[in-house]
Amino acid sequence: MIIKAFLFDLDGVLTDTSELHYLGWKRLAEEEGILFTREDNEALRGVSRRESLNLLLKGRQVTEEQAQEMMERKNGYYIDLVRQMTSADLLPGALEIVEEIRRLGLKQAIVSSSKNAPMVLDQLQIGEMFDAIIDGSSPARSKPWPDLFLLASQALDLPPENCLVVEDALAGVQAAHAAGMPALGLGPRERVGIAELVLPSLEGHTAHEVIEYFAGL
Ligand code: BG6
Ligand code: MG
Repeated sequence: MIIKAFLFDLDGVLTDTSELHYLGWKRLAEEEGILFTREDNEALRGVSRRESLNLLLKGRQVTEEQAQEMMERKNGYYIDLVRQMTSADLLPGALEIVEEIRRLGLKQAIVSSSKNAPMVLDQLQIGEMFDAIIDGSSPARSKPWPDLFLLASQALDLPPENCLVVEDALAGVQAAHAAGMPALGLGPRERVGIAELVLPSLEGHTAHEVIEYFAGL
């Protein structure tokens, strides 16, 4: 497999916003009298805002108006936390690999289900490192559908098979495969074991080494 571009998921790959999403959902759940644990939050990884709310509600029926209000309320809590983020919140190894990809002259994009991705990138001060940014504000279907990754492949003008997806969520790896792209999964095998390559995190790993690995497949 010849890798010509890296498509990075944002939340859980370049920065650990899943804790901030958790705090936002947890506060909403408490206000609504719903039990919501860190374990419950794991199922929300990589999942859209709407689908996250459905999982949190655990079958409780709400009107469309109530659902919209709850999502806005949670997003307000989340944004308050994102405002406090800085470049110090990049995960170990993230800046190094993004800088290396630039040096190697390869392309790279952000492909995130989050509508807040542009704000998170601003806080991290890395937005200008990417050739394309595809985020949750796109009308395309969110992961595990392939749509967001296919938009990135079009934006970079590269066929899907040359785009390597870097993901921390099962839904993200499924979306990559549905798009015809190989994937590097970050985190436990129980979560991202279907990816062609699984690493605990980006820390201590180079783009060069990853490209060599995929060249051998
Ligand atoms: C994904 C996160 O990147 O974006 C999910 O992993 C989140 O946890 C989703 O629900 C949507 O994010 P937002 O910021 O648009 O609510
Ligand atoms: Mg993610």
